[in-house]
Amino acid sequence: MLIRLAILFSGNGSNLENILEKLHKKTFGQNTFEIVLCISNNKDAYGIQRALKYDIETIIIEHQKFKTREEFDTNLVKLIKENQVDLTILAGFMRILSPVFTQNIKAINLHPSLLPLFKGANAIKESYESDMKVAGVSVHWVNEELDGGKIISQKSFDKDRLNFEEFEEKIHTLEHEILPLTIVQIFEDD
Ligand code: GRF
Repeated sequence: MLIRLAILFSGNGSNLENILEKLHKKTFGQNTFEIVLCISNNKDAYGIQRALKYDIETIIIEHQKFKTREEFDTNLVKLIKENQVDLTILAGFMRILSPVFTQNIKAINLHPSLLPLFKGANAIKESYESDMKVAGVSVHWVNEELDGGKIISQKSFDKDRLNFEEFEEKIHTLEHEILPLTIVQIFEDD
């Protein structure tokens, strides 16, 4: 089966590039994956350059241009539906999505903590500073609650005596492992 993916991002785009490298036009078992749509709400996102390496032109939809969250989301939904996307991946997409999006689009999100702990935008810092002995990353289904949908996969590690830079690097390394694997697994289980 050909699986059509959309990726939404807002900034650096290392996860976007990692998915492109590992999954774009690649076959796993019965399934071949293709990233058919990249959307950013930020015209200066570095990920736009990364997608170009794969000849993918990112569509920019600037949220500031819409009066309401729902209007912005309506545009996202329209584009995703028009492109007959099987799964949408939020990879560093820094917008809260309304039910207009969550009730119409099958999407997963990558989050840099062991959910349900440390939801929100400061997860890495909060999980580093907590007295927990382990930390990790999660992939979950997107619903109307921020970082609150059902967890699909997680990876954890011992914090040991990592300094903050080492900790952050470990998080990103695990993110790059878990997200493509999870995408492939979702369709294996289907
Ligand atoms: C990742 O840490 C992800 O967990 C969070 O945003 C970051 C995106 O990084 N949601 P990048 O833009 O993919 O490099």
